[in-house]
Amino acid sequence: MPFKDLKSEISELIEKSCTTKDTLLHICRLLKSNVPHYDWVGFYFRNGQKKELLLGPYAGNPTEHTTIPFGKGICGQVAVNNQNFVVPDVQAQDNYIACSLTVKSEIVIPIFVNGENIGQIDIDSNTLNPFTKADEVFLEFVCTKVASIL
Ligand code: SME
Repeated sequence: MPFKDLKSEISELIEKSCTTKDTLLHICRLLKSNVPHYDWVGFYFRNGQKKELLLGPYAGNPTEHTTIPFGKGICGQVAVNNQNFVVPDVQAQDNYIACSLTVKSEIVIPIFVNGENIGQIDIDSNTLNPFTKADEVFLEFVCTKVASIL
């Protein structure tokens, strides 16, 4: 499904009266099943004032990385640097936490509420170098929508 159509579906999901947890889970499932190079889609959120991320709703194989300290892995780096992180080839990264041997690339986009980095969307792909600027722009849209219900 093209990003344009997914944007409308996500806007609709956000507007429906559902719990935040359910909405986030729907978004994960929608993205995983409609974008061929999205093989694992999940949200991580800062654990209160602690310098760690906790896994939220996700779609894909379960991961043992349910808590990630700030600075560790791609997710932990985004928690500190407040910037999108696109990893075309995870094997080329020193500071990377492997979730599955099939994963070849990853993209993480931070979520800001009132200018504060409170979490992120994390996507793993089994394809090498699949992410383009279009993914970043689309996922920034998703994160802005999500921020509006947090
Ligand atoms: N690969 C991530 C860990 C989370 S899993 O991808 C679900 C990282 O390096 O932070």
